[in-house]
Amino acid sequence: MKKRTHSCGGLRKEHAGQKAILAGWVNNYRDHGGVIFIDLRDREGITQIVFHPEAGAAHELASKLRHEDVVQIEGDVLDRGIDDKGKSLVNPKLATGEIEVSATGLEILNKSATPPFAPDDAHKVSEENRLRYRFIDLRQPKMQEILRTRHRVTKIMRDYFDEQGFYEIETPFLCKSTPEGARDFLVPSRLQAGSFYALPQSPQLFKQILMVAGIEKYIQIVRCFRDEDPRADRQAEFTQLDLEMSFVDQEDVIAVNEGMIRRIWKEVLDVEVPPIERMPFDVAMNDYGSDRPDLRFDMKLVDVTDLATQTEFKVFTGAVEAGGIVKAIRVPGGAKLTRKQTDALAEWVKEFGAGGLPITKVEGGKCSTGIAKFIEPISEELVTRMGAEDGDLICFGVDKKPATVHRVLGELRVKLAHDLDMIDENEWKWVWIVDFPLVEWREETGRWFSTHHPFTAPNDEDMDKLESDPGAVKSKAYDLVLNGSELGGGSIRIHSQEVQTRVFKMLGIDEEEAQEKFEFLLNALKFGAPPHGGIAFGLDRIVMHLCGTDNIRDVIAFPKTQNGADLMLDAPAPVDVDQLKELSLNIKDAEAEKPAIIKE
Ligand code: AMO
Repeated sequence: MKKRTHSCGGLRKEHAGQKAILAGWVNNYRDHGGVIFIDLRDREGITQIVFHPEAGAAHELASKLRHEDVVQIEGDVLDRGIDDKGKSLVNPKLATGEIEVSATGLEILNKSATPPFAPDDAHKVSEENRLRYRFIDLRQPKMQEILRTRHRVTKIMRDYFDEQGFYEIETPFLCKSTPEGARDFLVPSRLQAGSFYALPQSPQLFKQILMVAGIEKYIQIVRCFRDEDPRADRQAEFTQLDLEMSFVDQEDVIAVNEGMIRRIWKEVLDVEVPPIERMPFDVAMNDYGSDRPDLRFDMKLVDVTDLATQTEFKVFTGAVEAGGIVKAIRVPGGAKLTRKQTDALAEWVKEFGAGGLPITKVEGGKCSTGIAKFIEPISEELVTRMGAEDGDLICFGVDKKPATVHRVLGELRVKLAHDLDMIDENEWKWVWIVDFPLVEWREETGRWFSTHHPFTAPNDEDMDKLESDPGAVKSKAYDLVLNGSELGGGSIRIHSQEVQTRVFKMLGIDEEEAQEKFEFLLNALKFGAPPHGGIAFGLDRIVMHLCGTDNIRDVIAFPKTQNGADLMLDAPAPVDVDQLKELSLNIKDAEAEKPAIIKE
């Protein structure tokens, strides 16, 4: 017999009167005094099956069905119609709700042990349990929809770039450590004892080499590995849509990728993405305190340093004298926050380097509480500059380091917008951040550090400042930001060996280190490298937005926990001493520090 004629989501009123064979999982069963109902579930949906006593053996067998048994059912498709009292029996919650299948035959294909939870109850159990029994968790229609969306997104990407003449090319996973900011995952080599491969943080160098090799247009949907602590939108093992193009400038890269985004949002959500605005990095930092500004709400940072110096308030004047700044945000309606709530905010901002959080509420056209008495002389002018109204709250960021002020207020504005429900969840606010600084100064190491990566091209007009004023050099780097989250980032690359050497030097990477780490790239740049540039998007993040989840683990079939564990596999796990020996590895004293690794 054929295993099935229809899916559990496919039968409609017009199939009434036909015979059907369905197969799937028992989602639910109910015995209504001799008449047994089951909800049969497969990937495509749910169909109600009814077993009348007249069905004989099938009815008898149906009484033994339990959650998650796998069954095959043969029966007649019936219009549910109306009951004896004229009440409609249609179930409007189900796509198949107009029909039911009256079973004539039943085969139990596989009995299930009692599941730890029913897929419908997954939201009631801990995420740990969901991950441990991921095969049950993924049976939820919601999770299946996410995996379906993820599949569609990658299909759209591949079709779109194929039409544009891109080749998808795989690059190695067993690579060499590259300086991309995060820690590498290392893989010991058996054949070359004592040496290690590194898993790629991204295919950055390979895609540049592919441009030197004349490929011209490359994409890859590729796994990347970064040994950093997972967060809500970050996994150690994640997927990029990676892209590189030759003979292009920044505008070409932006245009082709905006086209891809437009197609995905249209095809998946039927949402039109308008031409996306550009915002220079400096404007993003000054106005929003972040290089990934959430533009769904206002609360811009306003510079009030000049007003701050007109007060006797030591917190303000002290910071300004030390070379710092004072900025403020206006929180509409924020005066309703209680003292307890604002005290909690003052504590919270310390996480971002703030000494505290001066605030004042606005009443009668001037500042009325908090630090109001210290800033009396500027009270009205401040209210005017902030565009504040009665009932608003003004929060100040003050520090000797402008970067700290930006960070604190940047984080605070996002938190307040969420806490005070100021965000329209149906809005899509896109922005390209451009003109990033090429490098940033890192106090801890006393060195310049690449803002993007060391292969990013400086802006042409800033080339002469590379040695004399590195901090003032802008670069041809761009990030795509959606609703305050960084979806992707890329840059035009340096294609001249001479410029690359100058940049390495400025970064404190001397000739020997450059040769050791990037010999192949420097070599390639010698032999006819075309001008090129590219970008990489976080595929997981794109799917998160499309599916409306803020948990990256929801969009990955088999994700890792906060501790980097796969609970289903129970990985990472100790390995055999013999395996270690073969790799010439000898783990010492690991048990105390890392109980997961075996001790010889
Ligand atoms: P970058 O490091 O900015 O650039 O990464 C590109 C995009 O990848 C996503 N992403 C992540 N997603 C989930 N978990 C993570 N741990 C994670 N890290 C990054 C983000 C990010 O915008 N080689 C360059 C690109 C280039 O220059 O072409 C690169 O990897 O959405």
